Amino acid sequence: MTTVHHPLAEGPQTGLARSKHLIKLFRNEQTDPDRFYHYLAADTLRHISKFGSIEGGIAVDIGGGPGYVAEALRTAGATSLVVEYNFEELLLHDRKPDLALQGDAQCLSLRDDAARLVHSSNVLEHVPDWRAMLSEMVRILDPSEGLGYLTFTNWLSPWGGHETSPWHYMGGDRAVERYVRKHGRRPKNEFGTSLYRLDIKEVLAWFEQRNDVEVLWVGPRYLPEWMRWIEKVRGVREIITWNLVVVFRKR
Ligand SMILES: C[S@@+](CC[C@H](N)C(=O)[O-])C[C@H]1O[C@@H](n2cnc3c(N)ncnc32)[C@H](O)[C@@H]1O
Repeated sequence: MTTVHHPLAEGPQTGLARSKHLIKLFRNEQTDPDRFYHYLAADTLRHISKFGSIEGGIAVDIGGGPGYVAEALRTAGATSLVVEYNFEELLLHDRKPDLALQGDAQCLSLRDDAARLVHSSNVLEHVPDWRAMLSEMVRILDPSEGLGYLTFTNWLSPWGGHETSPWHYMGGDRAVERYVRKHGRRPKNEFGTSLYRLDIKEVLAWFEQRNDVEVLWVGPRYLPEWMRWIEKVRGVREIITWNLVVVFRKR
């Protein structure tokens, strides 16, 4: 398994201890983003490396912001490229990725079959046409060795409304109105503009109808692996999952 040698990447690697650590770091994400994102990137790489090697390949991180995951993927021997819509996101937390391209996940300027790894974390719920984004992830994936690694926050997750949570359960527009009343400004992730409803049911159905895609792993990102069974329980999974991981390859 590939290990990221970064002091902020260290911590428990499995089970409940890993989940508790992730939640603790997430709670402090605003004040100590480096600790949360380095740990999460290392955790992601550990998971990816269970499915194969990315050494010598091109790894694309769509919506990868300032490049924490790209940095981790490079330690595994990949040439990593961030594709990011918003230039300012590349410079967050006083960082910037080594190799980045400004572009739109729904229409990537990369050739078919180019990537050994296509990764995207928490971007799918931010694009107006998530099906187009998934199609693009599949299109650029190498069909022989390529791996797709997708994570997203679904709408009915307790964090589905992002900073407007949990009021999104009353409706996205109402949650935004409440946020504006309380904070005197619009939320960064605004329902209908930069945040959209995304249901696990629909995303998994999309994968099922793609004959050229094989799903290798589905599970909740932050919960222990033994809780993967919840993805089989329709309805319940929309609330308990928080954030879903789908690992796939192109046939
Ligand atoms: C919630 S952040 C996630 C950042 C990072 N991937 C992570 O997991 O921490 C969403 C990111 O997606 C980017 N994004 C939104 N729409 C995009 C699009 N159409 N194409 C590419 N990136 C996009 C945003 O600029 C932002 O950097």
